[in-house]
Amino acid sequence: MLPQSLAVYIHWPFCRSKCPYCDFNSHVRERIDAKRWTRALLAETDRQAELAPDRRVASIFFGGGTPSLMPPATVAALVERVRAHWPVASDLEITLEANPNSAEAERFAGFAGAGVNRLSLGVQALDDDALRFLGRAHDHAEAVAAIGLARDIFPRYSFDLIYARPGQTAAEWDAELDAALRLAGEHLSLYQLTIEPGTAFATRAARGDLVVPDEDAATALFELTQSRLAAAGLPAYEISNHARPGCESRHNLAYWRYQDYLGIGPGAHGRLTRGTEKFATQQRRAPEAWLEQVETGRGEPETTPIPRDSALEELVMMGLRLGEGVPRARIEAMAGCEVERRFARTLPRLIDGGFLMLDGERLRATASGRQRLNAVLAALLA
Ligand SMILES: C[S@@+](CC[C@H](N)C(=O)[O-])C[C@H]1O[C@@H](n2cnc3c(N)ncnc32)[C@H](O)[C@@H]1O
Ligand code: SF4
Repeated sequence: MLPQSLAVYIHWPFCRSKCPYCDFNSHVRERIDAKRWTRALLAETDRQAELAPDRRVASIFFGGGTPSLMPPATVAALVERVRAHWPVASDLEITLEANPNSAEAERFAGFAGAGVNRLSLGVQALDDDALRFLGRAHDHAEAVAAIGLARDIFPRYSFDLIYARPGQTAAEWDAELDAALRLAGEHLSLYQLTIEPGTAFATRAARGDLVVPDEDAATALFELTQSRLAAAGLPAYEISNHARPGCESRHNLAYWRYQDYLGIGPGAHGRLTRGTEKFATQQRRAPEAWLEQVETGRGEPETTPIPRDSALEELVMMGLRLGEGVPRARIEAMAGCEVERRFARTLPRLIDGGFLMLDGERLRATASGRQRLNAVLAALLA
């Protein structure tokens, strides 16, 4: 039997500037000691390898922050270290998130040389005014050039767009989707703009200076996105992710299928199965605190057991994001009873409302359920 598969996430927490909508663990620093960061990320990979021996790595994901600011030699060293600790799948997927600035595009060949075989570009908009509004450091021409380069250099690529921007009409988004589909390869991530607490956009929204589309308008944009992408052969396999069948992000599927993954780097979290129990790992969030912790070994990060009820909630919360839903057998193994019995109080109402579907094999959210998944989950798990 093949060893259990493992996904490895590595977080690079630095960006050139902070985008006003973003609440990811990303920081702007004047100077970054790349050698020190490389040593620390390698050391943390070594430490976490002991938590998950006897696995086979199926994917590595360099996320951020802006991992395209990493020296390609750092990426190469980390890939090599992962390969030294574990056997890897013959089709090992190695993704790196990149910003489309021309300076970073110059490193793409270096990343490919380091083993990266899938590039995920943060394009965000195909319109100069929208890019300025989103506070991005690149313009439309740079984005198109970076996509062209990604297509030439990497076997697989994807790019991200943010829609439901203030004042954006369905006709405008439809035209932007036309442009996106002309540039797309096998995969696109299309996110609805969310106003995250603590961001510059949240401050502006609180003042009334920034108004996002209301729920009806956002729903119409979501539905337009679903139908346009399905018609183009890239149906949604997750709320915001679209791919040609077989071209999904294997790494992200591991999260949503609640499989095991390591989280290496500031703020990264992991999930590991031991026997029938799930464990969580969590890294310090502030880059300097993380670095000091790894270098001194003081206050080693914790690996904490996840109570069975919480693990069941996580399984359902992640799995209902996916079109394929959650296997009934996995829910029942964790719950110790039938799905109908575990969610007896809330499930019938959500099925009748057209938000969830249950058959002999799977519990799934309908497209309408996925559009308002937080509310559906709150009701289901109440
Ligand atoms: C970690 S970030 C991207 C990495 C890379 N630094 C970049 O900006 O291109 C992942 C993606 O989340 C999306 N995102 C971040 N904040 C968002 C928000 N508030 N609303 C919608 N999408 C958001 C963006 O599309 C972004 O590309
Ligand atoms: S969206 Fe990307 S570039 Fe902008 S602050 Fe967030 S992680 Fe950094």
